[in-house]
Amino acid sequence: MTLVSAILIGLLAVAAAGLAPAQAAPVRQPGVVNGTPGDPAEFPFLVSLLTASRYARDGAYDAQFCGGTLVSPTKVVTAAHCVVESPSGDVTFAKDLLVGIGPDLRSPSLRTVRVVKVQPNPDYGLISSGNDVAVLTLARPVTDVRPLPVANPPQAVDLTSSGSTVRVPGWGLVRAGSFQAPARFRVADLVVFPTSSCGGGAPYVLDGVTFTGFGPAKADPATMLCAGGVTSSGRIVDSCQGDSGGPLVAGSGDDARLVGVVSWGLGCARTRPGVYTRLAAEYDFLVDAGAATPIAPSQPPAITVSALPGALRVSFTAAADGSRAVGFAAGVQDPATGAVRNCFAGPRPSGEPATCVVDGLVDGTAYEVTAITGTALGDSPMAGPVSAAPAPVPSVGRIIGFDLEDARSSDDVDIRVRVTRSSSAGAPITSTVVCTPASGPSVRGRVTGTSAVLRGMHTVRYSCVLQATNAAGTATSAARSLQVA
Ligand code: ARG
Repeated sequence: MTLVSAILIGLLAVAAAGLAPAQAAPVRQPGVVNGTPGDPAEFPFLVSLLTASRYARDGAYDAQFCGGTLVSPTKVVTAAHCVVESPSGDVTFAKDLLVGIGPDLRSPSLRTVRVVKVQPNPDYGLISSGNDVAVLTLARPVTDVRPLPVANPPQAVDLTSSGSTVRVPGWGLVRAGSFQAPARFRVADLVVFPTSSCGGGAPYVLDGVTFTGFGPAKADPATMLCAGGVTSSGRIVDSCQGDSGGPLVAGSGDDARLVGVVSWGLGCARTRPGVYTRLAAEYDFLVDAGAATPIAPSQPPAITVSALPGALRVSFTAAADGSRAVGFAAGVQDPATGAVRNCFAGPRPSGEPATCVVDGLVDGTAYEVTAITGTALGDSPMAGPVSAAPAPVPSVGRIIGFDLEDARSSDDVDIRVRVTRSSSAGAPITSTVVCTPASGPSVRGRVTGTSAVLRGMHTVRYSCVLQATNAAGTATSAARSLQVA
């Protein structure tokens, strides 16, 4: 080193120590946007997603395009939009990706691990950005880094309630539209917004700053979570481009959990919250992809019961409580005799209800129906009892005759239709008379007792039937013709 350069370095050191801070105060290299430098000990699980070819040529700093979270030794959770091309929907090849482990993208101690599998949530919405989550499987386990477990749905209820504090680390832009990205990750301290401002359209005031919320056309509170922050000096804190896929962390120390993934925003730090994938809604997908562990069921299945002749059909939908259904069981008890009959259903692909039928029952008898979800970790609490009665397809009565009820003009008359009773072995039943002209709309009247009034009929010929409907179906009588004169 020459004497001149040594003196120069000395001068720079003086400037850095003494002069620069005073003069550079407004720049303060905000992180994320308006964040703070991240402590690697607090976020060991934060990983960078790197484009493999770019990494080979230019190094990690230039190759980094998203963040991610190590949730187990071999699984990384990130955003689907980081690994799914828009608008084609093409999924990035595993061999084109590397996962970077280490806080500093320019440090020689940054390690990289290859990826063997890329699994975006199949329900990811390219247009809506809903379910913006993906799981990467690493080529070898990373055993010397503490992973961050995904909060299970019951834990997430508390951790993501409105007003909860959360943290987002990342290498994203420090200012929207700038090309300033830090080499060492930075952290945003944020507050979870109420869903009324994240899909409900309401404004939200945080530390004196009014944020404009997102309405239902933009944000879906079922799969998204909004968060924003304000520094003590009143600047808005937000994640930004390049932070995507990174963790939204709730809780601290051993209780820290992954509750969200950086997904999208309108610009950055602009009185709009950042939007994060709500991982409680992605738990089934994460369990299937090996990135989360199923837990024992805590909620009963939702059930609906419908009547059939001599039988009841039960439909089950498992609760989104983090458990993994292996099947469902329904019990149907005759309250008079205590006798119980069961039926069982296997699990169905998510969204579709499972169904089974209990037969050998007596029409018109009210039974008590209960149900459970079965899992490898035990049974759920019981749903019900719901009272339901099997019903035969009703036996329909017949039309006896027609009387003039009222005539406002010769072309606007009300007709009373006399009928015999329909029956349904005691199960609830509704009866309706339906009269249909050769052309034009039908006229209907609900039967009360043994007649129905059909209003506003015209001077044409109608074909009329009596219909009786119960839970098991509808029966229709023979038609009788009616000429309104
Ligand atoms: N989609 C961005 C990315 O790919 C992240 C946007 C987050 N924006 C925000 N304002 N919070 O990196």
